[in-house]
Amino acid sequence: MKIGILISGRGSNMVAIAEAVSDGVIPGAEVAVVISDKSKAPGLEKARDLGLETVIVTRKKRSREEHDAEIISVLKNRGVELVCLAGYMRLLSSDFVRVFPNRIINIHPSLLPSFKGLHAHDQAIEYGVKISGCTVHFVDEHLDHGAIILQKAVEVLDEDDADSLSKRIIVQEHAAYIEAVRRVAAGEIEIKGRRVVSRGRGDAVNG
Ligand code: GAR
Repeated sequence: MKIGILISGRGSNMVAIAEAVSDGVIPGAEVAVVISDKSKAPGLEKARDLGLETVIVTRKKRSREEHDAEIISVLKNRGVELVCLAGYMRLLSSDFVRVFPNRIINIHPSLLPSFKGLHAHDQAIEYGVKISGCTVHFVDEHLDHGAIILQKAVEVLDEDDADSLSKRIIVQEHAAYIEAVRRVAAGEIEIKGRRVVSRGRGDAVNG
């Protein structure tokens, strides 16, 4: 399965996925391209260091649809079947979601549906939750909304600020993203309504 990874920044989740692929932890997968909407994203150099092809597709004052169309064509030209958003900080157009139905996944640093959008760690600290974590989910047209593949919980400590909490959550993010991609690539899961269940299971879900 050819994977395309979209980044906007540091790219640590991208590196985790790429290393898992090269270590054989995600059998049958290949990272075909890493795309960034930011020309200075530090993750780009990390991707090149790993020997991956990188493509920069900046917004250039275009509409979301025009920008996404260029990204879609880069992905299609390389035969990408699974798109992983790894710190990609732009909402996708519905065109994009339609082209890759249930084939786009994202990671978010909170236990969704809590604390969607930007600054999830700040939101968690300010709200005062005692448990936060991360969520890997399929992407639909709505922000941080699609069916949940996997979540990992992280305790919020009394002395935490957003920075210290994010340092513990990111460790769980890498593990969660690798496991989620492995399950999707292996065809181990299926989507029943909003629920992602192991293939062949979950009949009770539909009553
Ligand atoms: C990660 O914490 C990811 O969950 C978050 O951005 C960070 C990217 O780090 N994504 C979002 O907040 C998306 N809503 P990385 O570039 O090192 O993978």
